[in-house]
Amino acid sequence: MGIKSWKGASVLVTGGLGFIGSNLARRLVSLGAKVTLVDSLVPEYGGNRHNISDLAERVKINISDVRDRHGFRALVEGHDVLFNLAGQTSHQDSMADPFTDLEINCTAQLAILEACRQANPSIRIVFASTRQMYGKPDYLPVNEAHLLRPTDVNGINKMAGEWYHILYNNVYGIRACALRLTNTYGRGMRIKDARQTFLGIWIRMLLEDKPFAIWGGDQLRDFNHVDDVVDAMLLAASDDRAAGGAYNLGGSEVLSLRELGDKLIAANGGGCYEIKEFPEDRKLIDIGDYYADYSKFAAFGWEPRVSLDDGLRDTITYYREHLADYV
Ligand SMILES: NC(=O)c1ccc[n+]([C@@H]2O[C@H](COP(=O)([O-])OP(=O)(O)OC[C@H]3O[C@@H](n4cnc5c(N)ncnc54)[C@H](O)[C@@H]3O)[C@@H](O)[C@H]2O)c1
Repeated sequence: MGIKSWKGASVLVTGGLGFIGSNLARRLVSLGAKVTLVDSLVPEYGGNRHNISDLAERVKINISDVRDRHGFRALVEGHDVLFNLAGQTSHQDSMADPFTDLEINCTAQLAILEACRQANPSIRIVFASTRQMYGKPDYLPVNEAHLLRPTDVNGINKMAGEWYHILYNNVYGIRACALRLTNTYGRGMRIKDARQTFLGIWIRMLLEDKPFAIWGGDQLRDFNHVDDVVDAMLLAASDDRAAGGAYNLGGSEVLSLRELGDKLIAANGGGCYEIKEFPEDRKLIDIGDYYADYSKFAAFGWEPRVSLDDGLRDTITYYREHLADYV
């Protein structure tokens, strides 16, 4: 019956120096797990050694690329759980350089699963998937029965990566499931630019006393604080009933980007934004309004607990203190 205690569990986290991976690692260490982080630290992605500066002595760090098939096979041996978070996350970059996205988000995922099948078939895997694969919603809130119709290369490759996990669960009995994340924010997110999320660059601009740009502004979105996503990942690995499924995560508050901008300014105690027309290239891959129906995963006992107001305040406080490490 699943993982009963994380104490002493041997856990591998790909993308472990990134935003969500490092927050997950911190929680796992606090629960007594033996944690190994794998990350390639490509500068354009969200990996950052500062994300784990408080953990460096308590985790094993392996700077390597999940595209290295042979290396990964050796890495995966002996672990109880794999949290598979390594990914190329920029939608725009996936259009400009589709083959790199294909290699990381699709081909490497198949290689990771093959390594597990050959070297450690009893491992449990949680894959960080994305709401991007739904594309422009036909209805709201979007549940898992919605058609998958990605609007960009990243969405297609993440979709394939997700389904390889489900396939390996169904055919080879490697217990794997996928969480389809919505916009996730919190300590450790990339704020240098908008590659990971627009919210990152908004925070940077605010802290540098510059106006941030909101494209459009009326689009509806939901958000998860990273602590809630970490809760969901631990639960997904712990509960055997989750194996073989793909589940939406989502936020309890739905708001427009303009309203989000207002909340962020309130959390910062000042600042301003400019509403701008969507650039043409972005308009083509935009998904319009999106928010998730996350009741399928909530049935396992998960719900988002951090309010947007509290989460944004905590995030701003963190970056006010650590800005130099992230720009
Ligand atoms: N943050 C979000 O809002 C969000 C939304 C949907 C899905 N996700 C998914 O969650 C996962 C984690 O995202 P994140 O927000 O923490 O992004 P992130 O960029 O901070 O983390 C991803 C990490 O993977 C590493 N990585 C990339 N390619 C690699 C490779 N080939 N080999 C080894 N390491 C590699 C990067 O260096 C980075 O540290 C990703 O798979 C992403 O698609 C995130």
